[in-house]
Amino acid sequence: MTTQQQDMAQAPADVHSFAKPAEAVARHLDLDIAVNFDKKTISGKATYQIENLAKGNRIVFDTRGLNIEQVYLGEEQTPTTFRLGDEAKFLGRPLEVDIKPDTRLVTIQYNTTANADALQWLSPQQTAGKKHPFLFTQSQAILARTWIPIQDSPGIRITYSAKVKVPKELLAVMSAENPMQKNSTGEYTFEMRQAIPSYLMALSVGDLVFKPIGQQTGIYAEPATIDAAVYEFAEMDKMLVAAEKLYGKYRWDRYDLLVLPPSFPFGGMENPRLTFVTPTVLAKDRSLTSLIAHELAHSWSGNLVTNGTWDDFWLNEGFTVYFERRIMEELYGKEYADMLNVLGFQDLQNTLEELGPDSEDTRLKLDLEGRDPDEGLTDIAYEKGNFFLQNIERAVGRECFDQFVNKYFQTFAFQSTNTDLFLDFLRSELIKGDEKLAEQINIEGWVYSPGLPVGFQKPTSSRFAQVEQAYTSWKSGKPAAQLNTKEWSSHEWLHFIRMLPEQMSEQQLAELDKAFGFTNSGNSEVLAAWFIHTIRNNYTTADQALETFLTNVGRRKFLVPIYKALAATPEGKKKALAIYAKAKPNYHAVSTSTLDAMLK
Ligand code: BES
Ligand code: ZN
Repeated sequence: MTTQQQDMAQAPADVHSFAKPAEAVARHLDLDIAVNFDKKTISGKATYQIENLAKGNRIVFDTRGLNIEQVYLGEEQTPTTFRLGDEAKFLGRPLEVDIKPDTRLVTIQYNTTANADALQWLSPQQTAGKKHPFLFTQSQAILARTWIPIQDSPGIRITYSAKVKVPKELLAVMSAENPMQKNSTGEYTFEMRQAIPSYLMALSVGDLVFKPIGQQTGIYAEPATIDAAVYEFAEMDKMLVAAEKLYGKYRWDRYDLLVLPPSFPFGGMENPRLTFVTPTVLAKDRSLTSLIAHELAHSWSGNLVTNGTWDDFWLNEGFTVYFERRIMEELYGKEYADMLNVLGFQDLQNTLEELGPDSEDTRLKLDLEGRDPDEGLTDIAYEKGNFFLQNIERAVGRECFDQFVNKYFQTFAFQSTNTDLFLDFLRSELIKGDEKLAEQINIEGWVYSPGLPVGFQKPTSSRFAQVEQAYTSWKSGKPAAQLNTKEWSSHEWLHFIRMLPEQMSEQQLAELDKAFGFTNSGNSEVLAAWFIHTIRNNYTTADQALETFLTNVGRRKFLVPIYKALAATPEGKKKALAIYAKAKPNYHAVSTSTLDAMLK
C-alpha cells in the first residue's frame, strides 16, 4: 500500500457516501455546465482526474436525482460502461464506472432533474430586483450529489475548475476565484486551486454586482441590495485581520460575501472564498454580523481542517462558534462576546430539552448511520462544542490554548480530521499525561456522554444583567415605555423577548408593542422571537406581519419554531397550513423537507 492508500483505508468509513476512496479517488474536477432557467436544469460534463489506488476496475461516485447520459474514459473520451445502483433514501444512487487500472480521466455527462434538492430556482418575483431569475446551490451536508456526480464525502478533497454558461444578462459566481463583473457572452470560468471537500461546491447565478470592502474582501449582491450590504458588512475586513491574528494566515486569497434572496435556508454557508449569506442579517445597524465572523472562521475550522464524517460535525461547528466569539471579542470586547455566549447557551438548553437528557444526539461525537445527516446536525455541535473548547481554554489558559489551536490548524491544514484524531492531538500536545488536567478537561463527559457534564460553568453577561433588571421592574408594574433600553442592541432585545412569560394578556403585548415597536421591527431576530409570543397568546395585531414574514423569509432557523408554535393548537395549525401552502414555493428544499415532516 502507498501512504495515500493507507490514509484512505484508515480513515473511518463515511456512512453517508457510496464512494470507495481507498479503491479509486477523485483529485480534480473540471466542470463544464450550462444553466437553463427555462427548464430549470444544469447539464454538462464533470471530468475527474482520478487516482486508481487499488489499480482495480471501478470507481464509485454519489448521485441523487441525476440523469447520467454517458461516461467516457481518458483524453480521447472513449465511452465506458457504468451502473446506477438502487436508490437509497436520502443517499441517492451509487454510480459505478468501469475503468482500467491505468485510467486517469473519467468524464460524466449528466443533467439535473426536478429532484435536485441543492438547487433553488427563483422567479424574478422572488428576487429583490423583480426582473431576473436567480439560482443558488446549498450542498452541505450531502446535497452536492444532487447537482454534480461526485464522491460526496467530507473526507475526500478535490481542486476544481469550471466553465459555466448562463443567460447573458446574469452573472455566475462560485466557491472559487470569481469574475467580479458580467461579460457579454454569459460564459464564465472558475478556478479553485486549494483542495476542498464536496460539500463546499457552490454556484449562484443572478443579476449580481460586486462592490469591494477592503483589498481582499467584497460583496456580491443584487443591485437593489448591494449598498445596504456594503454598509452592514463594512467591518468584514477587520474581522479578517482579527482572525489571522488569532490562528494564522488566511489561506484562500480573497474573502467575499454573496447576499442571497431571503429564501436562502440558512443564515450563512461558508463556501470557500465566497460565503453565502441571508439578507435577514441586514438589520441596518451592523448588529447581526457575528454571523459573518462565524462563516469567516470556517475558513480555518471546517474548510481548512474538515470534519471527516458528519458524525464529527462538532469539529466544524464547535470550533467555529468558539472562533466566532473570539473574533467578536477582539472587535467589540468581552461583554459583547458574553452576550453571544449566553444566547448560545439558551439555544443549547432548548435543544437539550427537546432531545431529552439521555439522547445520544446530545453527545458531541454523533452516530448518524442510517439517518439523514441533516436531521442529526443540531445546536449541540455548535454550542456544546464551543463550551467544551472554552472549558479547555479555562483549564490551560488562553495563551496556551491559542498555541494549541494554531498548531492543530497547521498540522491538519487541507486535511480531514475526526474526533479520535483531534482527541489524540489534545492528549499528546496539551494533556501530556497530566491527570488533574485530564480530569478538568473531561473528554468522556463532553464528547461521549449526553447532556452537559457535572460542574458545567454557565456563561454570564453583565449587559444581560441590566436587561434582567429592566424586565423585573416591568413585571412588577413599571410601564414599558419607562424602561431604560436606549443602549440596547439586538442581543439585549432578544434576551428581553426570550424572557417574557409564556402567558401574557392582550394588554401586556400591546403595551410592549407600543413602547418598542416589535411587530414592525426591521430586525429579523427580534421579529422571529416576538412572533413566538404573539402566536402563543393569540395577539392578532401581529398576524399580518407574521404572514408577511413567513411568505418572504425561508431561513429554517426562524421558520421551524414559528410554525411549531402555530401548530400547537388546532386553530393555529389550520393557519399554519394555509400560510405554508402559500409560502412553500418560496422555500428551499432544505426548509420544506423539515417543515413537511413537522406539519404533516
Ligand atoms: N455550515 C453551516 C450551515 C449548515 C450546517 C448547512 C449543516 C448545512 C448543514 C453554517 O456555517 C452555519 O452554521 N450557519 C448558521 C449561522 C451561524 C452563525 C450559527 C445558520 O445558518 O444559522
Ligand atoms: Zn457554521
